[in-house]
Order: sequence, then structure tokens, then C-alpha cells
Amino acid sequence: MKIAVIGTGHVGLVVGTGLAETGHYVTCVDTNGALIESLNANNLPFYEPGLEELVARNVEEERLRFTTDLASAVSDVLLVFICVGTPASNTGEADTSAVFAAIQSVGKAMTGYRIIVNKSTCPVGTTEAIRFTLKSLTEHPFDVVVNPEFLRQGAAVDDFMRPDRIILGCEDVRVAEIIRELYAPFLRTGKPLLSMSVRSAEMAKYAVNAMLATRISFMNEFAQLCEAYGADIAEVREGLAADSRIGPSYLFPGVGYGGSCLPKDVQACAHLAANRDLPSPLLQAVHTVNESQQTNFVKRILDFYGKDIANKRIAIWGASFKPKTDDLRGGPALRVIDALLNAGAAVVVHDPVADKTLHQHYGDRVSIAQKSYAALEGADGLVICTEWNEFRRPDYERMAKLMRDRVIFDGRNLYTTKVLSQHGFRYFSIGRPAV
Ligand SMILES: NC(=O)c1ccc[n+]([C@@H]2O[C@H](COP(=O)([O-])OP(=O)(O)OC[C@H]3O[C@@H](n4cnc5c(N)ncnc54)[C@H](O)[C@@H]3O)[C@@H](O)[C@H]2O)c1
Repeated sequence: MKIAVIGTGHVGLVVGTGLAETGHYVTCVDTNGALIESLNANNLPFYEPGLEELVARNVEEERLRFTTDLASAVSDVLLVFICVGTPASNTGEADTSAVFAAIQSVGKAMTGYRIIVNKSTCPVGTTEAIRFTLKSLTEHPFDVVVNPEFLRQGAAVDDFMRPDRIILGCEDVRVAEIIRELYAPFLRTGKPLLSMSVRSAEMAKYAVNAMLATRISFMNEFAQLCEAYGADIAEVREGLAADSRIGPSYLFPGVGYGGSCLPKDVQACAHLAANRDLPSPLLQAVHTVNESQQTNFVKRILDFYGKDIANKRIAIWGASFKPKTDDLRGGPALRVIDALLNAGAAVVVHDPVADKTLHQHYGDRVSIAQKSYAALEGADGLVICTEWNEFRRPDYERMAKLMRDRVIFDGRNLYTTKVLSQHGFRYFSIGRPAV
């Protein structure tokens, strides 16, 4: 089948490549000319494990191509996937302007029947609005379905190729059959394709992200309680996770959730409620807890050094919002680094893959260390913002020798407090007694 994917970012590139991998001819489109140029020069615009090899193979086999020319990309395809960004607007509401800009271009370029598959996370009711817009743009017949994406950056290829489920919002059985056939190679292990109304599918995407964010904020609130009462959140988590009604996922306390999805989707859900004059106390609280988790972490660091902070050199391990990505968007590290820079500290950051994005974001305002231990040379403290595996079991003796002062603020609870105290570190983590 011939497919066009509009928006070639973290979702679009994985979706396009994944579909090409099963034999389809896919054209990925983006308005960002530099991004398309870089892809055409075989350079991936971001880091995602396993993606580079997959892109190269499918380009080589002439099943995958990249262009800024949307009209030619949609001229002879049956399916048009929409994968553009839907960031939070100033009010927190989802900004769907890129979706409608893409729809405008698609509508004007249509030369026959098309199925528009919206993968961008959009407020409930958007699919109907897309249909309405398209009707005003083209005489050609079309169907619009919603197919929310659940991939996680850092595991995106695997998530797309082996999804827990596919959700499809579609009211036409023939269209549903075409999409079912498209996804059949990804569902061979018996995982379901859940077909439902478009409004339910739109809502399901928000519900999933709101639930994940809720679990994280729940744990972070309990971490505060643990600190206040001398309990250890790691032990409390074990007790929770062993309960089959609860399970172990998304129960890790830390410096708060970030990224380009959870924060904006929680806020967008609260707006859905507000637009119908409904209260959303739970969603508001999830957001508030996350905000205070991040500000409390920063405050703890600033309070520890007091006025001396301006003379301190602080090392940061991990800048991406989660491991195995170089995406800094919405990450807690940005807040930590910004606060330290504002307070006049010298900041040296090591992240296994985010050098380029760090440099784009901060220029020369932070030093970037190529190696984790190099960041520690002469440091008055280490702040851990991302739980990259390589940080989990470091050489504590080597760290102690390199650092001017043995202080660690661990936003991801990577270490055992007892071990750190044996090596002479002052160690501050989340929801556990400080040493
Ligand atoms: N990133 C994730 O982990 C993830 C997971 C699931 C769902 N989503 C959702 O998927 C959507 C896309 O997210 P993303 O992370 O890929 O965003 P992104 O910012 O990485 O990529 C979006 C791309 O769309 C392009 N674009 C914008 N307007 C365009 C237009 N009119 N025509 C063509 N291209 C255009 C941009 O240049 C950009 O390259 C969002 O709604 C997001 O909430 C993201």
C-alpha cells in the first residue's frame, strides 16, 4: 500500500519507518526543510535506539522516502497519517494548529478518495472538526479515523512494532478492516485492535497518559510523606508493586515526570473538563504535585549551598527527560540547570547522547563533559536527573577522589543510602532518609 505520513518527528519517523518495514511504500513529509535534508543525507534528527538501522534499510529498499512536498506525497496514496505536534498553548489547552495546517494542505492536495488517520494527540471532538474542515476543502470523498499512538521515546521502535494494543476510533467497518489489515503484522502475538467510537479513542489516549502521570504523582506525594515520617519509599513501593491489583509499572518516585507528552496531556485533560464546566480536582492535583516535586528538588539543592552557590561547580548526570533519548523537552534537568545558572553556579553536564540538544539549548552557558567521570572533576556536588543505566553502579571511590565535595542529589533514587555513606558521601534522594 502507498502511505503518506505528515510530520516526521519522534512519532512520524517511527510510524513511517515501521510501516515501510512491513512492505508498504511510505513517504514522510515535514515542513522543516532542515530535518528532511538531514534525513535525506542519512542523518537521523534525534536519537532513538534501533531506528537508524531500520530507516537506512527501508530507504535502501526504496520503501521509505522523505520530502517537504506534501502535495506530491499525498497524490497517489490511500492512507494519510497525521503525526504533527500538539503542544500545550499558553493556557494549557492543546494547540492543534499544526494538525489543521496539515489538514488544509492535505485537503487542497487530494486527487481522489483518502483515509486520513490522525495519530496526533488531540482533544475530544477534533476528528469531527477535521472532517468538517476537509469537507470545505475538497470535492473528493474521504474518511477520517483516529488512531492514537502509545510509543515511548527510548523504546519507540519496539513499542510501535510490538504494541500492547492498537486503538482505532472509526465508525465505518470497511475502513476499520483496512486499518486492521495494515496493523496485522504487528499484532501476531494476539494483542488486540480495539475499535471504538472516535470520541472514545480520543479520550482513551488522554486517559492513559493521565493515569500514568497520576501514578507518578501519587508516588511522589507518598515520597514526601515517607521523608516526613522516616519511612523509605523504595520499601513502600515494593509493598505496593507486589499487590496484583496495583502492579509494578510507573511506581518509581523521582524528580517528576517530563517530556513532551505527560505534562501537556494532563493539562489538556483538565481543559477538556473546564470546557464542559466540570471540575477536575484529581488532574489539577497530579499537575500540582509534579510541579512541586520539581521545585522542591531544586530548592533542596539551592538551600544546601545557600549564598555559596555562586562559587560552586555542580555536575549533572543526565539531561534528557528519560533514558535512551536525547530529547530535553519538559525534562526536570532543564529546571535544575536553569536554577543553578541563575544562581551563578558553574554547571557541567554529562548525558550519554544529548550533547547536541544540550548545546542547541544552552550554547556555551553549560560545559558538556563527554564522559561521566570527567564531569565530576573538581565538582562541589553531583545532581542526577536521568536514570541512564550507566549511572546505576558507578565507581564510588573514583567519584570520591574526583569531586571537591562529596555531595549527591539523586532525583532518581539510583543508589543505596548505606553504600553511599560508607564512601563518605552526603546523599539526598527522594522519599528516603538523607545521609
Ligand atoms: N513523542 C512521543 O513520545 C509521543 C508518543 C505518543 C503520541 N505523541 C503525540 O504525537 C504527536 C507528535 O509528537 P512528536 O513527539 O512526534 O512531535 P515532534 O515535535 O517530534 O514532531 C512533529 C513534527 O511535525 C512537523 N510539522 C508540524 N507542522 C507540520 C505540517 N503542517 N506539515 C508537516 N509537518 C509538520 C514538525 O516540523 C515536526 O518535525 C503529538 O500529538 C504527541 O502528543 C507523542
